[in-house]
Amino acid sequence: MASSRVNLSNLALENRLVGGKYRLLKSIGSGSFGEIYQGINTQDGKDVAVKIEAADVKYPLLRYESKVYDQIGPHAGLPTFLHYGSEKRFNALVMELLGPSLEDLFNLCHRRFSLKTVLMISDQLLMRLECVHLHSFIHRDVKPDNFLMGLGRHSNKLYLIDFGLAKHFEDPVSHQHIPYREDRNLTGTARYASINAQRGIEQSRRDDLESLAYCIMYFNMGKLPWQGVVAANKQQKYEKIWELKQSMCIDEVFRNWPNEFALFIKYTRNLRFTDAPDYVYLRQLFRFLFRQQNHQYDHVYDWTLLQQEQKERDRDREYRRRAKQMLEQELGRRQRVKLQRDEIGDSSIKPLKHKTAEERRHRK
Ligand SMILES: Nc1ncnc2c1ncn2[C@@H]1O[C@H](COP(=O)(O)OP(=O)(O)O)[C@@H](O)[C@H]1O
Ligand SMILES: [Mg+2]
Repeated sequence: MASSRVNLSNLALENRLVGGKYRLLKSIGSGSFGEIYQGINTQDGKDVAVKIEAADVKYPLLRYESKVYDQIGPHAGLPTFLHYGSEKRFNALVMELLGPSLEDLFNLCHRRFSLKTVLMISDQLLMRLECVHLHSFIHRDVKPDNFLMGLGRHSNKLYLIDFGLAKHFEDPVSHQHIPYREDRNLTGTARYASINAQRGIEQSRRDDLESLAYCIMYFNMGKLPWQGVVAANKQQKYEKIWELKQSMCIDEVFRNWPNEFALFIKYTRNLRFTDAPDYVYLRQLFRFLFRQQNHQYDHVYDWTLLQQEQKERDRDREYRRRAKQMLEQELGRRQRVKLQRDEIGDSSIKPLKHKTAEERRHRK
């Protein structure tokens, strides 16, 4: 987490109003920037997500991220950006609330996705990256934690989030490409970073795609060959990861997989610094495989059924909790009445028990 003097968890932000109309409800996680809250738009009742960073943070990120959202504009598969503002002790970026990340869902699915799921998500991720690149930005942190499913009627749609590391790869007006450089530090996450990004080469569109290729490989295989390497320090660990990526024999690693996956990774690695990737070709590659397998693009993912079962279990648990609560309340009430009766010896308070057979006989 970024260093700052204000400890966000001490600010008691629940119930605070941000930007005059967004009320913070509860913390739903934390990130490198600070905390993320679920909130509500008090004017239209819609759910929102609010990224919060302390006002005195050394490297503020949220204003920059809000500018990226603003410049890219609203698009299917990117969260709707709603507000950025500085409150007294923190900065807040308000956007549409989304659902679980692909990393969460991967865990729910026991860390393996079927070919059908992989192909449906790859298709959408290619569209998201194309959209970002069309607006002259590269993302630079393509990884499963930054892919979120939507909510409600958008629950089948995959979103790309987290534009804190995004950067212009070209001038948005003249389309002049940024210059090639080899003196960069790695931005992003080593596990999914491209070979060139790890070598310190300035990133461009090809690096987002190579990272996507590693994500797809991860979803297919459950683990990347360079996961879990041990080294004395971070520098040496990154070095080892780079070596394993570099020396990976793609045909060997993918020998039991449809050819398209090896082709995809090779294609991304062969792109030159300023090349515009052929997104349509890559999507066709996967669509062809999808049709070959006789799958329907019905947005039924591996987690769809699991989530339904989970919902039913939650409903069942809630029903049992409420039934238990009602029973306890009733028993408590009976206990109180009995105590009252015992104390004042008041026979006017009707007994709660059903009459015994003997009592009934007696009345007759
Ligand atoms: N719009 C959103 N709706 C729901 N959860 C979100 C949203 N944006 C971010 N999150 C959650 O917060 C986490 C961190 O946010 P992110 O923007 O990725 O910041 P970081 O730079 O720390 O990775 C995400 O991985 C996700 O779980
Ligand atoms: Mg993130």
